[in-house]
Amino acid sequence: MIDFHSHILPELDDGANNVQTSLEMLRISKASGVNTVIATSHCYPTDQAAVLKFIEDRRYAYNLLQAEGCSQQDSLPHIIKASEVHLCHGVSKLKNLDELCIEDTEYILIEMPYDKWQDENFEEIYQLTRLGLKPILAHLDRYMSQEKLFSELLSLNVLCQINASAFLDHSMRKKLLRLFMKDAVHVIGSDMHNLTFRPPNLAPAYEIIDRKFGWEYVDFLQHNSERILKNKDVLPTRLPKLGFVKKIML
Ligand SMILES: [Fe+2]
Repeated sequence: MIDFHSHILPELDDGANNVQTSLEMLRISKASGVNTVIATSHCYPTDQAAVLKFIEDRRYAYNLLQAEGCSQQDSLPHIIKASEVHLCHGVSKLKNLDELCIEDTEYILIEMPYDKWQDENFEEIYQLTRLGLKPILAHLDRYMSQEKLFSELLSLNVLCQINASAFLDHSMRKKLLRLFMKDAVHVIGSDMHNLTFRPPNLAPAYEIIDRKFGWEYVDFLQHNSERILKNKDVLPTRLPKLGFVKKIML
């Protein structure tokens, strides 16, 4: 399994607050069957200096984690450098955006603002695509209050990541079915921050997806994750074919 969203790099954002916590989150992930973790630490690109500082701080945190993992002879998942880029005003005009992408790809994980989306937010996404970048919207499930704006957003040819916690929440699953129908579910991630209230939870989410939506969707999501890491396009849409009883039992 590939965990598409995580805050495992130590002392870099509101995720792992020290390297031992990072290692424990990774050990739990590995034991549950996760072999690759994409490190998507928060990046707030308010200006060029903020981008450069993030890249430098991330390099330090990544090296610290790798060194400590080696010294403890841990068998950890493969860690891929990336970032969760907050959609700040003017981000598309900044340099070094390629270094914020998922390593060796043109895919970039974007965190939309939590305020009501404005035309300028859509314009910024559009400008990113014009640069040749391929935006993936982080945890679209957290923006259901803006669902009426999803069609405008999805018309910009973006992909969507959903948090594992949404599949584990009974009240969210019917809403996720609506997202599947809109072709707004492409990859999932734990968005793990710590060992307590935002822990590694990808494996149980995949179990639920298998049971509730069908193995085809486990297959679809896992293949998409693999393809994105190879900088390939995602698979054509598949829609869940759920009968009446399965729908009400979601
Ligand atoms: Fe996140």
